[in-house]
Amino acid sequence: MQLPSRVQLVEVGPRDGLQNEKQLVPAEVKIDLVHRLQDAGLTEIEVTSFVSPKWVPQMADAAAVMAGIERRKGVRYAVLTPNMQGLEGALASGADEIVVFGAASEAFSRKNINCSIAESIERFAPVAQAARARGITVRGAISCTVGCPYEGEIAPERVELVARLMKEIGVQHVGVADTIGVGTPRKVQRALEAALRHFELDAVSGHYHDTYGQALANTLASLELGIWHFDTSIAGLGGCPYAKGATGNVATEDVVFLLHGMGIETGIDLDRLVDAGAAISSHLQRPPNSRAATALLNKRAS
Ligand code: HMG
Ligand code: MG
Repeated sequence: MQLPSRVQLVEVGPRDGLQNEKQLVPAEVKIDLVHRLQDAGLTEIEVTSFVSPKWVPQMADAAAVMAGIERRKGVRYAVLTPNMQGLEGALASGADEIVVFGAASEAFSRKNINCSIAESIERFAPVAQAARARGITVRGAISCTVGCPYEGEIAPERVELVARLMKEIGVQHVGVADTIGVGTPRKVQRALEAALRHFELDAVSGHYHDTYGQALANTLASLELGIWHFDTSIAGLGGCPYAKGATGNVATEDVVFLLHGMGIETGIDLDRLVDAGAAISSHLQRPPNSRAATALLNKRAS
C-alpha cells in the first residue's frame, strides 16, 4: 500500500485546544504558543475564532491574539468564522484562511451554532463568497461525522450531504471531524469516502478527537485512503464546549512521532514541538496529554 510521502498538519491547539479551558488564558500566552508552534515548523495554524464571546468566552480576545502574532513567511493563519460578523473580524485581523463550521448532525448544529444545517449553509454562503473574493482560503469543518453526543451514530450519507452543500457554496477544503472521538478506523474511512465524493483527495482532512484513544488508528486508516491533511492539537489540548465529555484532538506530538517513524515528512522539528507543548502545559498546570511528549520529556530528564 502506497502511503503519502508527506503530510500537512494544521495545528489547532490555540483554537480547538484552548477554547474549552475554563480559566481564561491570557492573550500573551496564546501568542507565545503560536510563536513556539511556528518555531517548531508548523506552517498552518488555527489561531482563534471570531465567534460570539457569550458562546465561547475563551475566544473573546481573537482580535488581540491575531494582532499580537509576529507573522512568519510561509505560515498560514486560520480563524473560525460562523457568520458575516465573524468574517468581518477575520478580515480586519488579516487571516489567511477562514473556517466555516457545520455538522452532519442537526442536534449538534443547533447546540453549537444555534441553527439547522440548512440555515447554517445559507449563513456560510455569503461568508465563503466574500472571503474568496478577497483571496482568502475557505475551509469547512463538518462536525459529528461518525457520532453525535445527542443523536448517536451518524450515517455517511449525512456527511456526504453536508460535503455537497459546502462544495456548492464555494468551500475549498473540508475537514471530516470526529468531534467526540467515537470513530474507529473503518467508520472513519466511510465518513472520509463520503466527503471524497465531492472533494478531491488534496482537499479533505481528518480532524480526530481522541476521547476513546482511537485517533492515531484513525489517522493511519486515513493515510491508507491517501488523506494527507490532518488537524492536530499540541499537547492533546482541547474539546468542544458544546460536545460534553469530548477531550482534545489527537496530540500533534503523537502524530508527528507516528509519521516520522513511518518515513513520512512533516517539516516539523519534534523536539521543538515538545518544548511548545511543555510550555503551554506548564501554563495550564498539567502534564501534556501526549504519550510521545511524555516519553520524550522523561527521556530528557533521565
Ligand atoms: P446566536 O445567539 O444565534 O447569534 O449565535 P445572533 O446572530 O443572534 O447574535 C447574538 C449575539 O452574538 C449578538 O450580540 C451578536 O452581536 C453576537 P448582542 O447583540 O446579544 O450583544 N455575535 C457575535 N459576536 C462576535 N462574533 C461573532 C458573532 N456573531 C454574533 N461572529 C453564533 C450564533 C453562531 C454566533 C453562536 O452560536 C456562536 O458563536 N457559536 C460558536 C460556537 C463555537 O465556537 N463552538 C466551538 C467551535 S466548533 C468546534 O470546536 C468543532 C470543530 O473543532 C470540529 C469538530 O471537532 O467537530 C471545528
Ligand atoms: Mg474539534
